[in-house]
Amino acid sequence: MRPRSADRDFAGYNAAQSAREVRPLARRALALVREGSGGAVELGSGAGIEARFLAENGVSVHTYDGDRSVAPAMADLARTLPITHTTADLSTLRSLPAADLVLSCATLSFVPRTAFRALWGVVRSALRPGGVLAVDLFGDRDDWAGTEGTFLRRDEVEDLLDGLEVLELVEEERDGRSFSGPKHWHTFRVLARR
Ligand SMILES: C[S@@+](CC[C@H](N)C(=O)[O-])C[C@H]1O[C@@H](n2cnc3c(N)ncnc32)[C@H](O)[C@@H]1O
Repeated sequence: MRPRSADRDFAGYNAAQSAREVRPLARRALALVREGSGGAVELGSGAGIEARFLAENGVSVHTYDGDRSVAPAMADLARTLPITHTTADLSTLRSLPAADLVLSCATLSFVPRTAFRALWGVVRSALRPGGVLAVDLFGDRDDWAGTEGTFLRRDEVEDLLDGLEVLELVEEERDGRSFSGPKHWHTFRVLARR
């Protein structure tokens, strides 16, 4: 049986993130968001490191994550910053708040193929005209391809971006480590504008 996303130790992963740097994708995305942003959505916010960064830089953020263990930390952040957190399975989302930025770091590929297309439609619908999409996607040569999730060929990624202005599409393959051990990574870093 294919390993399920629900069996991944996201709580353990998120608990171990507190000391890490803000992801470069979030920094790049903030630089692209026009002044006077009407807000951001972050899917798979984990421990809230990127959401805090955006909020501290004047962008209000709606965050979503299925890991219940991060909810107290997100509630703490929300006390002092413009962050609204929802615990939800991304597969079940049917709409999102309109946003000038949709950010998702190392998350969307954990959504099963059966739900991915619908979620992608929801994400694209949430983008305001001029809004920025900043996401990581995992490729079909990633070590985790074959587990539950959506691991994409390059032509599939290009198809997902049809109709958007692609600002950056960087495909990378490397041997490295993940939270659970050595891993071959195959990823796409996407920055696009509606
Ligand atoms: C690898 S972590 C990345 C977290 C954070 N964005 C980062 O860059 O460190 C993936 C995150 O996505 C969340 N996640 C994975 N699948 C999900 C799903 N179907 N619905 C909601 N959240 C999900 C996990 O709980 C976890 O916080």
